[in-house]
Amino acid sequence: MATAAPTTFTDQVEYTEEIAEFSPEVIAEMNEHLAKYPPERKRSALIPILMLIIQRERGWVDNPGVNFLAKFLDLEVTDIWETATFYSMFNLRPVGRHHIQICKTLSCRIMGEPAITDHICSKLGIHPGETTDDGKFTVTMVECLGSCGTAPMMQIGYDFHEDLTKEKVDKILDSCK
Ligand code: FES
Repeated sequence: MATAAPTTFTDQVEYTEEIAEFSPEVIAEMNEHLAKYPPERKRSALIPILMLIIQRERGWVDNPGVNFLAKFLDLEVTDIWETATFYSMFNLRPVGRHHIQICKTLSCRIMGEPAITDHICSKLGIHPGETTDDGKFTVTMVECLGSCGTAPMMQIGYDFHEDLTKEKVDKILDSCK
């Protein structure tokens, strides 16, 4: 049985005062991003640090990580959440080792996305929004990923997979370790 996942942000966030801790090396990495922007524009480092460091270190954008970043950038916690909840590249819950994001917007839709989604989900035994029991795959439906000319498409991790067919999907999934 696959692990059911909540589908909305407010379903699953437990607000706490806990603040994440990071190693000096990771803090130094954050400061490198911060140094790219004027001191009065710390907010500009929000997306790079959230995406490239907090999500990587925590595995997802969690409450303690957000609390840390708010303090680090002298922002309100809500400033972080309003960004994190806007972009689908931020994971608001734990995801599997391979996070499959299937584009469900118009071009992909009319080029066969529903059949591709059904194929992926039945092969993995999960529904969109769920993670396989072994923690290997999560399937998420997302809006346009900007690759409409090669629809239908999906993103796994940072890689785009385009012009999808069922056969192509089988090869891609089989290559995921
Ligand atoms: S509609 Fe799917 S990538 Fe744009």
